[in-house]
Amino acid sequence: MEGRVVVSGAKNAALPALTAALLTEERVVLHNIPRVRDISTMRSLLEDLGVDSSVTHEAHGNRIEIEARQLLNPVAPYELVKQMRASVLVLGPLVARFGQARVSLPGGCAIGVRPVNLHLKGLEKLGASISFDHGYVDARANGLRGTKFYFDTISVTGTENLMMAATLADGVTVLENAAREPEVQDLAHLLTKMGAEIEGAGTPEVRIRGVSRLHGAEHSIIPDRIEAGTFLVAAAITGGDLVVERCNPEHLTAVLAKLEEVGVQVVRDGANASNPARTLNVKAGRNLRAHDVTTLEYPGFPTDMQAQYMTLMTQAEGSSVITETIFENRFMHALELVRMGADITVNGRRAVVRGATGLSGAKIQASDLRASASLVLAGLAAEGQTLIDRVYHIDRGYERIEEKLTQVGAKIIRISESD
Ligand code: EPU
Repeated sequence: MEGRVVVSGAKNAALPALTAALLTEERVVLHNIPRVRDISTMRSLLEDLGVDSSVTHEAHGNRIEIEARQLLNPVAPYELVKQMRASVLVLGPLVARFGQARVSLPGGCAIGVRPVNLHLKGLEKLGASISFDHGYVDARANGLRGTKFYFDTISVTGTENLMMAATLADGVTVLENAAREPEVQDLAHLLTKMGAEIEGAGTPEVRIRGVSRLHGAEHSIIPDRIEAGTFLVAAAITGGDLVVERCNPEHLTAVLAKLEEVGVQVVRDGANASNPARTLNVKAGRNLRAHDVTTLEYPGFPTDMQAQYMTLMTQAEGSSVITETIFENRFMHALELVRMGADITVNGRRAVVRGATGLSGAKIQASDLRASASLVLAGLAAEGQTLIDRVYHIDRGYERIEEKLTQVGAKIIRISESD
């Protein structure tokens, strides 16, 4: 890989930002929205609710404008929720502003059970009444009241949902053991521009003082740290020299530290305290060393980079233990990597990778978004041709990955749009 590659806006920051627009009848304008499938799914969901959004292409990403003047239908249907679990992010805003929401329960997922019990428990504490029927959850409220809520498991979208709901509640809400992800902070920035009073987003304790109404705002979505991390691994695995543009290195601390341990040189261009670098230059030799990793909530090593890191470890000298603590079934890619020649044993939440092994191109199958990224990376490192099936998974969260990687030297073609 050689050359420059540009990072898109963060899917996982854009999704809650789109649902935050439901909190006001005024216009919310969002920039740097990535052109990925999950964003189209969220727009379809907003349309189902009776809320129109319009899209314009900009130099970097899309601009989306939303004006949620009214709600025609408070239902997030099964057909959309089963495609994208983040649909549950409409729950908090709908209950807070309109006093009602009916959202299909998401059910299981390829990477784990992923319940939404904490979203519901928190809303109940804010004063909503919750009931279930026919696979749906019904939430109703006649005005929410500020409360104190402790997350007994840290949840990113759970924190986002309750933070949004609390902006219109009566009084102060304190969320304890909240998620600290940059995407949570970005949402808090948008909500603050809309008139919300939020302190502590990005720390484990978020305090929200409810206001009677929110207004319109304009906001640009942060860069996608996982897409950036995927490009860094692409360079590392091919012994490349790549400049990753429009990223925020501060959001990648754990990933950069791990890559440096492994033997990859990363230069933050022109970084100083007042002007953190927006560009990373990654240079990799052929001598990668194996290192263990454990996924953790932010600022730890992201679970969304675990699959890509596993592929990298197949090309490093020595054994590495990869421990997945966030999701209980996120090693589906390991079996596909083994089919390509990797030496990996999986035992529960632990995988041991013994490297370096040559990979040989094969016909393989993507099981979820990040797993499919790891298989593309394996294809870059493999000898011969790799054919990846079910690539729709990758389009959910990566904008034209085949074009971006082709521009920096990969040979990738999309054979069909959906399979
Ligand atoms: N959990 C519960 N109860 C809940 C909510 C979560 O037990 O009510 C558990 C989950 O089962 C999991 C853990 O808490 O074991 C963490 O899940 P979390 O709620 O934080 O995940 P999420 O909000 O559903 C977001 C991202 C994921 C990312 C995770 C972890 C979005 C839209 N999705 O999911 O992104 O993996 O946080 O960082 O923000 C991806 O982009 O590929 C992706 C899966």
